Amino acid sequence: MKKSFGFLLAAAALALVSVDVNAQAPADIPADMNALMSKYTCIACHRPNQKLVGPAYIDVAKKNYSDEEIVNLIYNPNPSHWPGYPPMAPMKQVPKEDALKLASWINSLDGGSKKTTTKKSTTKTTTKKTTKKS
Ligand code: HEC
Repeated sequence: MKKSFGFLLAAAALALVSVDVNAQAPADIPADMNALMSKYTCIACHRPNQKLVGPAYIDVAKKNYSDEEIVNLIYNPNPSHWPGYPPMAPMKQVPKEDALKLASWINSLDGGSKKTTTKKSTTKTTTKKTTKKS
C-alpha cells in the first residue's frame, strides 16, 4: 500500500516535470541559464539558492558586485571573498558574452536590494582593482 502510493507520487512528480519543455532544468534555474551552467560546469558547484561546493548565487548577488566585477571573478576568482570554501578554478574558457549573461542573472537573484537602487556601497575591501571607471 505505502509503496504503491510512493510510486504514484513519484509518477505524479515526473508527470508534472515533463509538462515543462525544459524538463532537465531545476525549477529555480531558467532554461537558458541552465544550459550555460551545464556547458561550463558551473552547475557542478553552484545553485541559485543553495550552497554547494561554491556559494549560492543568491549570496553572491548580496555582495552587490557589478556584472563586470562578476565576470572578472569568474575569470580570476578571489577565494578570500569566501572563507571556508575551497578556491574556485579560474573559468577562462567561458566567453565574455556568456559570462556576462551568467553575471547579470546572478545579480538578478538578489530580489530586494536591486530595486531600491541604493547600492549599499560600503566599498567592500579588495575587489576594486579592475574596473574603476566604466
Ligand atoms: C569546481 C567547483 C566550481 C565550479 C565548476 C564553478 N565554481 Fe564558482 N565558486 C566555487 C567556489 C568554491 C567559490 C568560492 C571560493 C572562490 O571564490 O574561489 C566560487 C565562487 C564563485 C563566485 C563568487 C566570486 C566572489 O569572489 O564573490 C561566482 C560569481 C562564481 N563562483 C561563478 C561561477 C560560474 C559562473 C561558474 C561557471 C562558469 C563557476 N562559478 C564554476 C566553485 C566552483
